[in-house]
Amino acid sequence: MSLSAATLKQQVGIAAAQRVQSGMVVGLGTGSTTAFAIEELGRRLASGELKDIIGIPTSFQAIGLGKKFGIPIRSLDDVTEIDLAIDGADEVDPHKNLIKGGGAAHTREKVVDALAQQFIVVVDQSKLVDRLGSTFPVPVEVLPMAVAPVTRAIVALGGKPELRLAVKKDGPVITDQGNMVLDVTFSQIDDPKSLEMTLNNIPGVLENGLFVGLADIILVGEAQDDQPIVREIS
Ligand code: A5P
Repeated sequence: MSLSAATLKQQVGIAAAQRVQSGMVVGLGTGSTTAFAIEELGRRLASGELKDIIGIPTSFQAIGLGKKFGIPIRSLDDVTEIDLAIDGADEVDPHKNLIKGGGAAHTREKVVDALAQQFIVVVDQSKLVDRLGSTFPVPVEVLPMAVAPVTRAIVALGGKPELRLAVKKDGPVITDQGNMVLDVTFSQIDDPKSLEMTLNNIPGVLENGLFVGLADIILVGEAQDDQPIVREIS
């Protein structure tokens, strides 16, 4: 019997939430793995094991889950620092560089994750890759009026951009900030840092999903002898 990805995500989400201590300001990431961490934070608060934490959300999803599980939610106007951020990823390379944005939340995620004293990434083993871009395109958030010129600029860079379409709505995905997302496939990403900066330098681009040099710790949910284990890469 093999373990499901959901089981591995749950284990790793719980493991990350266990690292939060009373009084911390915690960045609440977005996605199905972080959702388990937020739920565990709520459980620890309700049991009295954890006190006085504040959650800084990275999306409407994180706001909703934070409220559902009883985590006091504040904005970046209310805090001067973030102690620890917990967030998922779509790909993780051997240098702890990431592709994020599968949930179109990478712009707020980068703001919050970059401000954290410690940024813990939570993934199941399927997210580990030798090279970024091998299984997942790079999401790029774009101002709606700039989609055409940004598309041309990305093609000129050698990328293949595709406008992300919504699933339960006709037309494009609209982000929490009211923008659109281009999912860009590159045949090879040799220098993620330089590509991250180049993409962000195109007028009309808000942010892209390459997170280079930001992650401190990767927690990986893995199956070992049919049991879920959490491996730390630091
Ligand atoms: C949200 O935009 C993303 O960056 C997510 O953090 C990422 O897609 C990981 O999501 P899952 O935990 O659902 O795999």
